[in-house]
Amino acid sequence: PRKLTTVKALSESPGLSSIPSIYTFLKQPYHEPVSDTEEPIPTIDFSLLTSSLPDERSKTIRELGKACRDWGFFMVTNHGVPERMMKAIIEACREFLELPEEEKRGISGKHVLDPIRFGTSFNESVDEILCWRDYVKIFQHPEFHSPNKPPSFREIALEYSKRVRLVAREIIRGISESLGLEKDYIYETLNPENSLQLIAANLYPPCPQLELAMGLPPHSDHGLLTLLIQNQIGGLQVQHKGKWVNIDPIPNSFLANIGDHIEILSNGKYKSVLHRAVVNNRDVRISIAVPHGPALDAIVSPDSKLVENVGNPPAMEL
Ligand code: SIN
Ligand code: FE2
Repeated sequence: PRKLTTVKALSESPGLSSIPSIYTFLKQPYHEPVSDTEEPIPTIDFSLLTSSLPDERSKTIRELGKACRDWGFFMVTNHGVPERMMKAIIEACREFLELPEEEKRGISGKHVLDPIRFGTSFNESVDEILCWRDYVKIFQHPEFHSPNKPPSFREIALEYSKRVRLVAREIIRGISESLGLEKDYIYETLNPENSLQLIAANLYPPCPQLELAMGLPPHSDHGLLTLLIQNQIGGLQVQHKGKWVNIDPIPNSFLANIGDHIEILSNGKYKSVLHRAVVNNRDVRISIAVPHGPALDAIVSPDSKLVENVGNPPAMEL
């Protein structure tokens, strides 16, 4: 297998003013113009979603359903996860991703199901064009894992992933209700004891030729729900009504998006939407996506009620 250097190391090469051609995405649709949408991305107030006042809750569930139908993405505010915890996990991931390359490679597995996987690009063993991104993926549930460096990582990750799992659970319950299903239907049928949760941290160094490079290519997320935070440097773009739109970071909130399993379970009513990351030439961008998925052995198919309601055959099954 080829040995790739990280983009972090590459970006620190003295006098780097152009990028190697293998990082050049020039002919890809990536360079379509981005539209400035007047429509803001939907915001879900988590405190209303979990409100004990039935009217507040049902109104928020309707808004959540609309956000899942129209965008597949939404901001989550008033979620109760302390800001210091969000900052701490970003700093811990940054410290890990800034360790010497041999150290990161040394603890990294090779297989997608290995508990800690460090790498560069999107899928470095097959990518013909490389992405301007280094990453680490760490399993948090059903089994918790952590690198040993930085020393604070374990405690911060344990606390953060637990808190984020609770936020994800309430949103998934709301999604379940918004589809006309029992509150716990999605969550319970997917075996919460064995549900998957990962920390997927990305580092995008400044890039001297940003018009040629790509941070992450267009993709949709596996699983049920991803909750993303970032170091307040923008770069995420989402496909909306056939156009790419920039999503600006909002302090102290999560960006949530639904994944492929919700698309399947809802029989296509809610879409797992394409998104991508662009790079910039000034700042290091860090993003931390926490995907939540069903247990590895869960079988996810459209709920029969939804298939009947829509009068459609199942659109797909995983
Ligand atoms: C992702 O899609 O997993 C991360 C995107 C980002 O860096 O904002
Ligand atoms: Fe993603």
